[in-house]
Amino acid sequence: MSVWVTWPALTKLGTLGIFAGLITLAMEREALFENNLIDVENYERHNADITCDPRSEIARTEDGTCNILSNPSEGSVYMRFSRNVGLSAAHAETDTLLTPNPREVSNVLMARDEFKPAPSLNFIAAAWIQFMIHDWFDHGPNAEADPIQIPLPAGDPLGSGTMSVRRTQADPSRTPDEAALPQTFRNHNTHWWDGSQLYGSSKEASDKVRSFVDGKLKIDANNRLPREFVSGKPVTGFNENWWLGLSMLHQLFTLEHNAIADRLKARYPDKDDQWLYDKARLINSALMAKIHTVEWTPAVIANPVTERAMYSNWWGLLGQGGPRSDFQEEVRKLREDLAKSDSFITRILGFDPNLSDGVGNSAIDHALTGIVGSAATNNYGVPFSLSEEFVAVYRMHPLMRDNIEVYDIGSNLVSRTIPLQNAIDREAENLLAAERPERLWYSFGITNPGSLTLNNYPGFLRDLSLPLVGNVDMATIDVLRDRERGVPRYNEFRRQIGLNPITKFEDLTKDPETLANLKRLYNNDIEQIDALVGQLAETVRPDGFAFGETAFQIFISAASRRLMADRFYTQDYRPEVYTQEGIDWVEHTTMVDVLKRHNPQLNSSLVGVENAFKPWGLNIPADYESWPAANKMENLWVNGALRTQYQDGELPPLVPVDVGGLIGSILWDKVKKNSDVAPVGYSKPIHPHGVMAKVRFVPTANNGYTGLFASGSDHSLLRLSVTGDPADRGFAPGLAWKAFVDGQPSKNVSALYTLSGQGGNYNFFANELSQFVQTEANETLGTTILFSAVTLKPTLLRVDDMAKVKQDGSAVSSPKAPTQIYFVPRAEVKSRFASTPHDFREDLLSIEEGTKLYDVYATSMEIKTSILPSLNQRYANERRSSARKIGEIELTSPFIASAFGDTGVFFKHQRHEDK
Ligand code: HEM
Repeated sequence: MSVWVTWPALTKLGTLGIFAGLITLAMEREALFENNLIDVENYERHNADITCDPRSEIARTEDGTCNILSNPSEGSVYMRFSRNVGLSAAHAETDTLLTPNPREVSNVLMARDEFKPAPSLNFIAAAWIQFMIHDWFDHGPNAEADPIQIPLPAGDPLGSGTMSVRRTQADPSRTPDEAALPQTFRNHNTHWWDGSQLYGSSKEASDKVRSFVDGKLKIDANNRLPREFVSGKPVTGFNENWWLGLSMLHQLFTLEHNAIADRLKARYPDKDDQWLYDKARLINSALMAKIHTVEWTPAVIANPVTERAMYSNWWGLLGQGGPRSDFQEEVRKLREDLAKSDSFITRILGFDPNLSDGVGNSAIDHALTGIVGSAATNNYGVPFSLSEEFVAVYRMHPLMRDNIEVYDIGSNLVSRTIPLQNAIDREAENLLAAERPERLWYSFGITNPGSLTLNNYPGFLRDLSLPLVGNVDMATIDVLRDRERGVPRYNEFRRQIGLNPITKFEDLTKDPETLANLKRLYNNDIEQIDALVGQLAETVRPDGFAFGETAFQIFISAASRRLMADRFYTQDYRPEVYTQEGIDWVEHTTMVDVLKRHNPQLNSSLVGVENAFKPWGLNIPADYESWPAANKMENLWVNGALRTQYQDGELPPLVPVDVGGLIGSILWDKVKKNSDVAPVGYSKPIHPHGVMAKVRFVPTANNGYTGLFASGSDHSLLRLSVTGDPADRGFAPGLAWKAFVDGQPSKNVSALYTLSGQGGNYNFFANELSQFVQTEANETLGTTILFSAVTLKPTLLRVDDMAKVKQDGSAVSSPKAPTQIYFVPRAEVKSRFASTPHDFREDLLSIEEGTKLYDVYATSMEIKTSILPSLNQRYANERRSSARKIGEIELTSPFIASAFGDTGVFFKHQRHEDK
């Protein structure tokens, strides 16, 4: 039997299975609350010095005191870390501290051979979690005296000798009567989820970040935080372990604080700076907690059970916020099922949660009604604090990349690569100013963090230069810290937190090399495996999980407890304390909103993005069709074409290739079938490769036709391509034009020279193109058959639809459409390019924005055909000579070649059949 948990399998049983999973999880959490909250602080001696003043009843204090008025030191700064494992299992290692050698563990099991990305997340998710842990905990500066000396293992890149690692600062509050207790350490941040990374954990720190005007934090006119003179790092609540991602987040949420303060000032003009500051802090902190709960966590553990669990933590499945209606129906089904005598849930759980000793019941109630805003705090009888085990499971350094790739907004071509070691400490603020926050957010939004697996610590963190300390290896330190702080080794850790222990190395992974290394380093003894190594080695993970179940077991209790135990998320999460504006701000703001508020340049890139922590890409939301023409075009252009532009010199060969599958997997999760975008996996049966640009159609005044022919189109896409490989079937140019319409589907037309093309002439603009071409008498190339994939009458496409509606979406009462239109290359381009064999795309990519490409001609003469080729030709000539110029097509961007242009964008043909 597998050692791993079973609830993920329940999700396969549909909605009720998901609920069975949810109930199982809730019960596991209850069990953890019962058994695994072990407090080691003596609050009484701290409480004696604390007086809770009237302000602390309605505001978070700087040092975290007075959240729990009956036990005012609970959760405050310098309170000890608690434990989630029994104290007998929590003693610091002494004899085994260096066994196996932690530096060797780092060299063999942690060093990154190649970057292993976490494809379902973006790099914002990595920065975010560090931003959060800096709110939650810090063990303070390490002790200088008596560092741990680790012998460098044979073959170490640093040579021979020892590596010196400073010890964690000892707890000065220990008393002689505690001598038998395991070592304790103090949290140098408040334990509460109170934004202390921004606001500090002391009055002194908070005074430094406040402007003392209208409740705001200090930030200059260029949105720069003040900087420390010596370190060059920003002045903010917590500024250790600094790098660019933290500079971005601290700037963003400092701006958000000030935006909240502005709103409050406008509504409550008579309130003073202190009142405004206190309220803005409460609101901003709650917003960050909500974003973490209902956005970051579901991105990192993207599973239907945990998605509902997190939603329910904040709102309860019967609550008012977010995608509430999605869950209401499910809850109804759950209740219906539980009321039945042959309840499905009861059967799969093996017991009736309605009847089981209260635990199941409260688990269900909990899921349904939520934590935030509940009537009373609940610390399960154990004062709230974060634990050493909680710290241990957040050692997520493999999330870090080796390089930051910077892109221009919209582009997927790297504009600058910054090695991460050049983006830390003082360099972070310099880069934020030089590269611009909005470009950096975009860049973080489209790149992945590392995945939480073995052999994925970035090189720079294994040779990290710390001011005043020297170079350290974070992987060595991470392993060593757990041993130093008495976090049990992996298998004991699992036993202690109610999980099955593993029985053999093969339970962790099947990879032969990793197995061999694990067995060698740990002397074939599974009990020796370090907690962190085991966690990173777990390859069995619930669907959608970025980390394994050992870490998850700690999260499920901590994520809820942080909210349940805090007065400001329970009984005092109410308008009287937050203000109504404050509650509304928290409830209705998402990370995407925050990003857009302070970086409006990201509006196009964030269209339809529901979760800012998942890779940004093309989304076609349900209401897409109703958008203005300009926005629809911009979405396809920015998030489709620019996002999948081929790298320089990497145009795909002119033979069909299935890049659709490739980009489908990164971009098109959300793309529903839509007339502008092909279904995932679609590849164009013909014209597989080409280039695309934004264009405008400027009509000739009074040209006699209606709809788009009269209104013109300012928001169009034009794709130029050839039918197949010209070397194979001759050069056959083709054009597809998509004119966007406000609030309605786009109108499209495609045009060719002839089906078989223009033979050996590789000048794209040698001939005019039309939506009606004659079938050739001697059609040896099989092109008509190719076209038959599209229409029964392959040579005739109609343009009536374009005459029925104007760009602004208004309908035309008496439409007048041409029967045939001609795209006549203009003098500027007609002879610009060579006719000899070459890649036509290179020509087109060189044409400047603003160039007029085609004069458009149109006739309304009836299309007559004949089986006699000569007669056909005569009809064609007559029509062509009757055609008049009706407008021009002009580039409003340069052409680009992209996977989206080749396989994503869809030009609906108005076929003969559809007239
Ligand atoms: C450039 C990025 C980062 C740098 C330079 C950095 C650096 C450090 C340093 C120097 C320490 C203290 C080591 C010690 O105990 O002596 C530390 C601890 C830690 N880091 Fe990072 N880190 C980075 C990113 C992250 C990320 C993304 C996470 C994800 C959650 C993370 C989680 C932690 C945790 C949990 C600790 C332990 C804190 C404690 O013991 O109180 N770090 N990091």
